Amino acid sequence: MARILLGVCGGIAAYRALELVRLATKAGHAVRVVQTPDAQRFVGGLSFAALTGAPVLTTEWERDPARGAFPDQPAPEHDPLSHLELVRNADAYLIAPATANTIAKLAGGHADNLLTSAALAATCPLLVAPAMNHHMWEHPATQANVATLRERGATIVEPEVGALASRNEWGAGRLAAPEALLAAVEALVPDGTRPWDGLRVLVTAGGTREPIDAVRYVGNRSSGRMGFALAEEAAALGADVTVIAANVRLPRHPRIRYVDVQTAAELETAARAGFPACDLLLMAAAVADFRPADPAAGKLKKAGRDGLAIVLEPTTDVLGALAPLRRPGQVVIGFAAEHGEGALDYGRDKLARKGLDAIVVNDVSGAGIGFDALENEVTILTAAGERHVPRATKADVARTILEVAGELRAGAGARGGP
Ligand code: CTP
Repeated sequence: MARILLGVCGGIAAYRALELVRLATKAGHAVRVVQTPDAQRFVGGLSFAALTGAPVLTTEWERDPARGAFPDQPAPEHDPLSHLELVRNADAYLIAPATANTIAKLAGGHADNLLTSAALAATCPLLVAPAMNHHMWEHPATQANVATLRERGATIVEPEVGALASRNEWGAGRLAAPEALLAAVEALVPDGTRPWDGLRVLVTAGGTREPIDAVRYVGNRSSGRMGFALAEEAAALGADVTVIAANVRLPRHPRIRYVDVQTAAELETAARAGFPACDLLLMAAAVADFRPADPAAGKLKKAGRDGLAIVLEPTTDVLGALAPLRRPGQVVIGFAAEHGEGALDYGRDKLARKGLDAIVVNDVSGAGIGFDALENEVTILTAAGERHVPRATKADVARTILEVAGELRAGAGARGGP
């Protein structure tokens, strides 16, 4: 199963896009359609909406009732920008039929309607299936534009030779057959055989900041690298990943959903909202255990003070609160950054106290590992034993953690849950 975004331009061949949608949905793919305004003169959006079971969009200015989600996904809570969210969720973006005019716009990098804006924002494979009169197709301008798109990595699904729409015209320019278009898409998208396809993973990453006043906070040195590495590796395995990111300034992955938070309370709200639907929780964030009890609304001034005492109150132990709520089959993994001797004992204690399936312990007293470092060295503790992961990049460490998570999932499934 793949998520296919179909862009339909204004040409006679637009009617063949209906057959393509029928074939794709029959094959189990989730399809969303965007049309250029002219395309609606040829085939109305209602036909595509009926076949896909999802709203059809024409401009950035209309609200998307599905909020960028494909028919197999729940709509997000927020109202995203439609052209960005649609391509972010798509495994492939196929423009069929693509007119000479749209091909020229794509080659020029124009973003003057939803279909072209989405193409510019797409990081998934882009396929372009031209359909036009043979003189237009053979024109050097069109050929140069097609060559440009090809050079940039787009897949051109060549038009067929045959009878054209206008009477007695024959030549190259007919839209490729719907079966050929679907085959071209399927050749480029994941085929549902990745090990974690369909698995929903929730990751927390980064470090929370608890306000002292309007400009200062109590925080920690977590960069979010470990959490982001876990999220990226899980996405590479095919999982549907959401990251709750607490103050993380790292590049973002187009296939991962990010929810930004600042404080432990915000992280708790986001984690409670995301937890019920996830299959695996990876709680890598460094969540504050205490926060200033009475943060000042403005900026605290130093004049007239000898010192400043800040009273801290405890925050909720988010992981400790969520773990007992888990349903059968759900796996919950915590992280413990310990300092110096006794790290594994503290880790074992947290594993039992918080009721986790595993805890990943690292000793942040070591130079070059742990907080804000590119590498890590951890020990993964489970009820069954422990696995030491020698110093390696955070991506490598993440892969081993996910391997253990996979084993725990298999065990949880076999047991019918924790
Ligand atoms: N954690 C949490 N909520 C908190 C604090 C921690 O969910 N308020 C989670 C962390 O994300 C981590 C795990 O609990 O996955 C262990 O965090 P840690 O701070 O090491 O545990 P604590 O129980 O707070 O123990 P310590 O006294 O060592 O701080």
